[in-house]
Amino acid sequence: MPAALKEAPSDLLGPERQRRLEAFRRVRAETERRAAPLSPEDQAIQSMPDASPIKWHRAHTTWFFETFLVQPNVRGYTVYDERFAFLFNSYYVAAGPRHARPKRGLITRPNGAEVADYRAHVDAAVENLIAEASSAAWPGIARILDIGLNHEEQHQELMLTDILHAFAQNPTNPAYDTNWQPPKANPKDGYVELPEGIHAIGHQGEGYCFDNEGPSHRVLVGPVKIARSLVTNAEWLGFMNDGGYANPMLWLSDGWAASQAEGWQAPGYWQERDGAWHQLTLAHLKPIDPAAPVTHISYYEADAFARWAGKHLPTEQEWEVAARQGALSDAFGIVWQWTRSAYSPYPGFVACDGALGEYNGKFMVNQMVLRGSSLATPAGHSRVTYRNFFYPGARWQFTGLRLAYYAERFSLT
Ligand SMILES: [Fe+2]
Repeated sequence: MPAALKEAPSDLLGPERQRRLEAFRRVRAETERRAAPLSPEDQAIQSMPDASPIKWHRAHTTWFFETFLVQPNVRGYTVYDERFAFLFNSYYVAAGPRHARPKRGLITRPNGAEVADYRAHVDAAVENLIAEASSAAWPGIARILDIGLNHEEQHQELMLTDILHAFAQNPTNPAYDTNWQPPKANPKDGYVELPEGIHAIGHQGEGYCFDNEGPSHRVLVGPVKIARSLVTNAEWLGFMNDGGYANPMLWLSDGWAASQAEGWQAPGYWQERDGAWHQLTLAHLKPIDPAAPVTHISYYEADAFARWAGKHLPTEQEWEVAARQGALSDAFGIVWQWTRSAYSPYPGFVACDGALGEYNGKFMVNQMVLRGSSLATPAGHSRVTYRNFFYPGARWQFTGLRLAYYAERFSLT
């Protein structure tokens, strides 16, 4: 703990700084809690270019605070290790050159203990800054601090999805946590009907949001019906047993090409054992629960399933309007839900200046929006306006779907 905090009782910080300090400690501790069950060997592995080693996540989130919060705001601060900017910058071109993403698993040094030391050093610098920043500088510092905390929470989710992908490459089906239990779904029957209407979507008012959640604006939605519940494993088995993976008529061209190239016959991490389907979870291989929401499916699979079912995926606007009405069961905390919306800027979106303007805006092409949150999303990180995004072939996240359909044909003639 920095000397300033040892000397000053924390209640002298004032409620806003105290709240930020507690949030900072909570988020940083959660990263370490998620890493704790993993051995140094587990933490070093990178199983594919999209996934990063756990050790890298722990260092990169630290580099983020050091680079965007501490360095610009602490006069005379000396970077902990000049080599780390190259190793742990992810994609911020404006922040300088960086190590190739697919080669993150080759970085055995610094080792895990050295990364822990790096974290502790930057933690102390951030806590000191929270205590000592001038009133004039504080609003800007608080803004970057909030971005850093939300950024680290995003990486906490990736830590679980990335290690699960790594474990899926191991024929012994390792467990991240043998006591882990899947969240219980709370399905409800039927569809909610959204009549045609103009609705406000996007973030407004108080509370944190990423820049891609705004500006708030009005959209025309409906008439459309959206499933109250997520698609289940039992329903997915119906698609599989009906030859869904073998019928090109159900698939987008790119999706069919991906399914053939990658040999998709079932959702990600499914394995057939003694004639019964199992899925690798965070707690070993488990028999498929027919009632549980399906997960580890790509956008292409979700789209093919919806076509097979005679329906489609909701747009992200339809999803948000229905979620705001409280009409969607299991909107949060089980699986991210693919929408049929391409990830693009909202009307009036402007990325912020500087390197942090690269956070979201430069990815607004060729990816699809997912709404809700998953079982791996940290507590408090979910919002009705949250826009997650992945490439349509990605299936290592906890991704599922809910269906929608138009009860009327649209025509202006
Ligand atoms: Fe990052």
